[in-house]
Amino acid sequence: MEYRPSPDAEEVDRWKEVTLVYNSALKEIGTKLEILNDEFQHVHKYNPIEHIKLRLKSSESIVKKLKKRGLDSTIENMVEYVNDIAGVRVICSFTSDIYRIAEMIADQDDLTVLAVKDYFKTPKPSGYKSYHMLVQVPVFLSNRVVDVKVEIQIRTVAMDFWASLEHKIYYKYEGEEAPEHIQKALIQCASMVSDLDQEMLALNEEIQKLLDSE
Ligand code: GTP
Ligand code: MG
Repeated sequence: MEYRPSPDAEEVDRWKEVTLVYNSALKEIGTKLEILNDEFQHVHKYNPIEHIKLRLKSSESIVKKLKKRGLDSTIENMVEYVNDIAGVRVICSFTSDIYRIAEMIADQDDLTVLAVKDYFKTPKPSGYKSYHMLVQVPVFLSNRVVDVKVEIQIRTVAMDFWASLEHKIYYKYEGEEAPEHIQKALIQCASMVSDLDQEMLALNEEIQKLLDSE
């Protein structure tokens, strides 16, 4: 008798393939960013990127996101509607690095920028500041090329520190509002982060001028 995998086994196999493709897209973007950073270091003697974090969204989080939008948990829906399955966070030192990095990414010929959300210029009411890019990158498999969406978030070390804590608190109080004093403190911290980033940038520019005139 001919062996035919059950639909479940087929589905699991497709899931593994999709995961592999998203993981490959992550690696591609990671390598691209490293190359750009190395080249920048070579030309300008400084690294705009402090560090890079790559993460694949867990299947639980994907299902949760689809459910929230009233969609069935199918691979088609996840590929179509969940834009942050592959996520890259680029952490830099200074706010001026954000647009420098964004421009270098947008200039890559094989990347297509699908959407940009500039929460640096227009912060969220929570105080969240970050520059988001949704890009599409081709992944070359043995017999075909797949275009894969990757969400890139670019922010400073200070903004990243704030966002991590805010995210933790947001999760703790999922569905409900956090106590008012916590909300207030977070907004205050966001404003301190903004001030710190501005002052650090100004200091860096001053020091850089002195170094350049040496
Ligand atoms: P989701 O927020 O992912 O449902 O999609 P969206 O269409 O609202 O996109 P958006 O660009 O607003 O957010 C994408 C991601 O940015 C989120 O998954 C978070 O990682 C991050 N993010 C957005 N807003 C906030 C925020 O207020 N606080 C924190 N800590 N992270 C945020
Ligand atoms: Mg959101």
